[in-house]
Amino acid sequence: MNDRAPKNHLSRPNGTAPDVVAGVPAGVQEGDAASILAEWPASSADLIYLDPPFNTGRAQTGRAGTYADRWDSPGAYRAALRPVLTEAHRLLKSTGSILLHCDWRTCHYSRLELDVIFGAANFVNHLIWSYGLGGSSPRRFARKHDDILFYGRSESYYFDPPMVPATSARMRGEMKKATDVLQVPAINNMARERTGYPTQKPLALMELLIGACCPEGGQVVDPFCGSGTTLVAARGMGRRAAGIDRNPEAVRIARARLTRTPETGDRADAAPAGAGAKEGAEQRAGAGVSGEPD
Ligand SMILES: C[S@@+](CC[C@H](N)C(=O)[O-])C[C@H]1O[C@@H](n2cnc3c(N)ncnc32)[C@H](O)[C@@H]1O
Repeated sequence: MNDRAPKNHLSRPNGTAPDVVAGVPAGVQEGDAASILAEWPASSADLIYLDPPFNTGRAQTGRAGTYADRWDSPGAYRAALRPVLTEAHRLLKSTGSILLHCDWRTCHYSRLELDVIFGAANFVNHLIWSYGLGGSSPRRFARKHDDILFYGRSESYYFDPPMVPATSARMRGEMKKATDVLQVPAINNMARERTGYPTQKPLALMELLIGACCPEGGQVVDPFCGSGTTLVAARGMGRRAAGIDRNPEAVRIARARLTRTPETGDRADAAPAGAGAKEGAEQRAGAGVSGEPD
């Protein structure tokens, strides 16, 4: 897969989906995720992707913004996430699904919380986003992936398996269904999509997830939208996109990205993948663990 497009990649040009549907405002709202979601109607979303702070213990800072990322205890983190997940559950259609992006710090707590709110029987996948770059240490195996927890709203959740290039010699040149390990490079230093907002995720990852979990014309919601990657990907694929972030810097960047045309937008470049620092994965906290590539 890597720098190759998933099956549903860019099936429509940017901005062709309708702007408002059933009370979910298109674009980006500034404010608290749970409070704003609570104002939106039940059973209105096809896919909710959440990429909350990972509780790294320190502020996440990039060229174009910063956000707080510290809770006093795992319990406090879980308590902060709970109302957002509860509203997400209410917002989803019976055919909808949720994707919660996290890492080793909070994945186990978040999964327990999802089991309670969505039901353990609605667990679908524990996806691994393998980005290749990242910290190394003489004291442990290098941490080179994030976790994405996938739950359906019911057993009738929508799923269209993404196709990715086969890697085996036997299937060289052919496509195969993606596994639960998603090999998608982090955003490279030269990529036009890089905004400078900390922990920005790659469009290619979002395109793969949206194509798999949201039908064409469906509603995608991202309550922690940051620089707006999910919304840009969703619009570009003919899905409706609604995002929330409490950080005005994030809202400004995300809105600016959404106003660009296909000619001036994030996908107007063809920068080679895999050549730069990782910014998608959360910066590592702690001695001897680097946020930069090996
Ligand atoms: C990991 S970043 C999201 C990055 C995003 N996926 C991207 O590609 O740019 C998490 C975001 O959550 C936002 N955030 C944290 N707590 C929030 C809350 N209670 N309500 C809304 N946004 C929040 C932060 O401001 C930050 O932009």
